[in-house]
Amino acid sequence: MTTETMPSAGAPTSSRPAPAWRHQHILDLDNFGRDEIEAVLDTADSMREILDRRIARVPALRGRTVVNLFYEPSTRTRASFELAGKALGADVISLTAAMSSVQKGESLIDTVRTLRAMRADVIVMRHSSAGAAYLAAEHTDASIINAGDGAHAHPTQALLDLYTMRQHFGDLAGKRVVMVGDISHSRVARSDMWGLTALGARVVVCGPPTLLPRGLRASERPAHAESALPPVTVETDIERAIEGAHIVMALRLQSERQQGGLLPSVGEYARRYQVTAQRLARAHPDHILMHPGPKNEGVEIAADVATGDRSIIEEQVTNGVAVRMALLYLLAGYAPGDVDGGSR
Ligand code: CP
Repeated sequence: MTTETMPSAGAPTSSRPAPAWRHQHILDLDNFGRDEIEAVLDTADSMREILDRRIARVPALRGRTVVNLFYEPSTRTRASFELAGKALGADVISLTAAMSSVQKGESLIDTVRTLRAMRADVIVMRHSSAGAAYLAAEHTDASIINAGDGAHAHPTQALLDLYTMRQHFGDLAGKRVVMVGDISHSRVARSDMWGLTALGARVVVCGPPTLLPRGLRASERPAHAESALPPVTVETDIERAIEGAHIVMALRLQSERQQGGLLPSVGEYARRYQVTAQRLARAHPDHILMHPGPKNEGVEIAADVATGDRSIIEEQVTNGVAVRMALLYLLAGYAPGDVDGGSR
């Protein structure tokens, strides 16, 4: 093997001992501890190094099959899993519901079983229903990666968000992270809340009351539902929310998941909640601006700040490939951080 084809990616960036990897599936981050999240991010550091090589390809997953099974549209997640699998030497195929036998009435469970019968090792699944990835995981011994299930969870987006934040700030403990927008319908917001609180960040969610999930406020939280969402601060005033923020994340109005009547108008929403340069002036002087995409400039985010010098939106996209490589690598049984040993 030449250096270009070795899975070796140099030493992990952390001297912490990596925890044992115990996940067969990636369904959400609510069952990830701080050390497990950091193990993924450390492994992603090594994957970034592979991606920076002249030939960004290693054989770690040669002979393994990754299937992208997308029942909903996607640009970033689907393309990055495809690139991630190929960079690690896996066979990757992508299916959309529109072009599959789902159109003939085949169920989700039958579809997953069929793909496993063809020896799929990993099924990356996006579905409009919350819980779809969990259902699939109950019916296959392939690894299921949740690439977004309804308004519930999007753990790989959250991990790439955490990775990108860590690149800029290092330790996220105590950092003020503000998510502004349609929190209620955002699977990204939910998974980010779990990941950020596990890393000790101070999370603020901001939006109109109609777009904030019930049960987020401590006073609304029934005692038996403590784990429904992690503890975060809720704010309906964007100026107050952004005050001193290290990280501001704008979120799209998820109109495909909204029932009618939640907002007077999109224009009124933009007037009150759009992330603008004037509002970002209240943030910490070193703040960064993020957006998971796809974004609607002029609605939740002003065009000038979306491409401005504080925006790291394209870095998020780039990092998505490395983080998804790290997840595929770990699910294949390689030890976290043990990228030098990945030549099986
Ligand atoms: N952020 C995200 O999930 O983007 P796509 O819908 O393009 O995959």
